[in-house]
Amino acid sequence: MEEEVEEEGPMTTSSRHYFGDEPSCSISIIENIKEDYGQFVWPCSVVLAEYVWQQRFRFSGASVVELGAGTSLPGLVAAKVGANVTLTDHANGLEVLDNMRRVCHLNELNCNILGLTWGVWDASIFSLSPTIILGADVLYDTGAFDDLFATVTFLLESSPGAVFITTYHNRSGHHLIEFLMVKWGLKCVKLLDSFSFMPSQKASGLSGNLQLAEIVLNTEVSELKF
Ligand SMILES: C[S@@+](CC[C@H](N)C(=O)[O-])C[C@H]1O[C@@H](n2cnc3c(N)ncnc32)[C@H](O)[C@@H]1O
Repeated sequence: MEEEVEEEGPMTTSSRHYFGDEPSCSISIIENIKEDYGQFVWPCSVVLAEYVWQQRFRFSGASVVELGAGTSLPGLVAAKVGANVTLTDHANGLEVLDNMRRVCHLNELNCNILGLTWGVWDASIFSLSPTIILGADVLYDTGAFDDLFATVTFLLESSPGAVFITTYHNRSGHHLIEFLMVKWGLKCVKLLDSFSFMPSQKASGLSGNLQLAEIVLNTEVSELKF
């Protein structure tokens, strides 16, 4: 369930997103529709946030890094249910990173905010050791796949047992994920159609083929490599 709350400026709105039956949790998001990709709540983010809520016992106490977080709805839900969360986006996206600070403040959540560009090895990435990596709608530009998966694989290797949970819009209908898994020595351990777990009220507002994948290192391939 989503509710548009108020106009904050000419192109800025805030929306409130609800989770649970009562509902038991809500997160407010500030969006700027004139700005770039990172200041809009994409449908994949709504799907991933709902999944985090439904799997909240798994997230409580987890160390979570969200990649390409933009308005950060999934990461904020993770923080709300007790995860230690680092929200990241492109290091050059200063407005996106500023907006993350604002939404954390608005929701009274204490998350770390970090500029993290995929495929770039700044010192800060070496101190991250996430047990869960989140990424909503980060698979949209084929030219960025190698950089994204270089970062994901690095983070998975730096934290044994970690998992990458991503939602993406499968526009082609091809099994994009399977191809990427082989290339990067990863393994998809869960692949869900978003309609299989979204509450009907939320699902009715979504269109397209939105999928959720849980990805881990394929240790058989890693062992062969070394
Ligand atoms: C389609 S938006 C999705 C935003 C948010 N996760 C959501 O679903 O609402 C893609 C996000 O990836 C970020 N991004 C794109 N290229 C990136 C890169 N090379 N490194 C880090 N972040 C990047 C963008 O700034 C943007 O926030």
